[in-house]
Amino acid sequence: MTSPVHEFDHDRDVRAALADPALVPLPATGTGAPGTMAWLRATVARFSSGDAHARRRALVESDLARLDPAALRKAAASGPDGDARLLVVRTLAQELGLPDPAAVAEAIRPVARAYFGGDDPDADAAVAWLLPRMRPAGTEAGGGTDDGADEVAANRIGLLVQACDATSGLIDRAAGVVRRAADDGLTAYSTESLLTEILRHDPPVRVMRRLAVRDTRIAGTDIARGDLVTLDIAAANRDPEVFPDPETFDPERTGPLSLTFGSPPRVCPGRNHASALAAGILDRAQADDPADDTPATDDRDPARVVAAMVEHVLARASTWTAWDGRPFPADDRVYTPHKAIRRVADHLVDHLAELEARLAGEEPQPDHWHASTITTDADLAPFTRHDLDEARSRLTRLARIWTNRLHTLTPEQLDHSPGAGWTFRQLAFHLMGSAHYADAIGNLTATDTDPGTP
Ligand code: HEM
Repeated sequence: MTSPVHEFDHDRDVRAALADPALVPLPATGTGAPGTMAWLRATVARFSSGDAHARRRALVESDLARLDPAALRKAAASGPDGDARLLVVRTLAQELGLPDPAAVAEAIRPVARAYFGGDDPDADAAVAWLLPRMRPAGTEAGGGTDDGADEVAANRIGLLVQACDATSGLIDRAAGVVRRAADDGLTAYSTESLLTEILRHDPPVRVMRRLAVRDTRIAGTDIARGDLVTLDIAAANRDPEVFPDPETFDPERTGPLSLTFGSPPRVCPGRNHASALAAGILDRAQADDPADDTPATDDRDPARVVAAMVEHVLARASTWTAWDGRPFPADDRVYTPHKAIRRVADHLVDHLAELEARLAGEEPQPDHWHASTITTDADLAPFTRHDLDEARSRLTRLARIWTNRLHTLTPEQLDHSPGAGWTFRQLAFHLMGSAHYADAIGNLTATDTDPGTP
């Protein structure tokens, strides 16, 4: 017979469930000889309750206390390359002073895959290899049956496993956000603010599960001993009672932290380390990626650069009345003719507003564009000859305003511009990138009169 499952998806109810001692994580089933997956699950804090949980959690916390998050960030930003999973684990292993961090990172991979259940001989072999290397210094050569040393070793493996997938999930999400930051108007925010909002908006851990070890009650629902409870973290993180305008990605949010790291008494002990590791690996990605650097400029007239971009977009748009209504995928987005025009116009307006504010000695308007992350109903509408005419009038005038404004600026203002951010010359060259939206749609007829990308 299957147990009833109760689901909670409001912030308040999820917190109540996590705080309730009658609800515990699903315990590990079975035990095994030291050095097996079954033994690992039966020995780590993650699947334990009561005194065993408190003792094992203290082991993890004592290892983590040796790691300074700032040093971890620095270490994650340097050293050899690898995928995010390997980088996360290797950095932790190295900073914990464990032997052969690169091999430890490789060994953790199959263990992470099998951690929540299932048989996998590769995972068993990896745990057997890891066990002697994770025992506290001075006990590793013993080879005997030191339960205390083995418990330390198991929880060290558990720490690395817990860090592996969730942190790399965060990094993958954050890399996408950082890559598109300029496009989405997010360059003004620190990596920390972006990470905090990504953790809320698109959490790498989306669900937690609990088992009732005695009868209890959550949010008016009776839960009987043996029932299962599912906590929908992703939904609770968008609870409008706690996070106003919850669907909007807003790195300026204040208020309570989301539930992505859980909540007491089992709140993730590695939460500061996770953010430091993610920030360090993003620092490395940004340093490696020339696309994230300040826009390159040359001796072209910056006004001409903006105008040429608009001409290019309009040449593309002149073919779009033939569009068949199917959106075009590009990266992890989709584009349509109306969306491309919207993005080009908004990009021109956004940086013009920034430039004007800085010239007036004001702070630019905080950024709340949804930009390319959303596709509106209007974006999906057919693109008619009238739409093309209106787009031409709109974009041509915007290019004209840019041209007139840039021509009033002195070389000093162009290259040593007032206020924080890129220089005005760099802003103009950055706008060349708007051609990307039009190029995502391309030429839809053979009669294109494309003057070429500026
Ligand atoms: C974005 C990255 C991370 C997320 C979202 C995350 C999330 C969580 C959550 C939600 C729990 C509680 C699970 C539950 O109550 O059922 C947890 C537990 C745990 N996490 Fe993390 N974690 C992350 C990274 C890390 C890192 C980097 C470490 C270690 C350096 C770590 C170590 C642990 C450990 C040892 C536990 C078990 C604690 C216990 O059972 O008391 N986590 N994590």
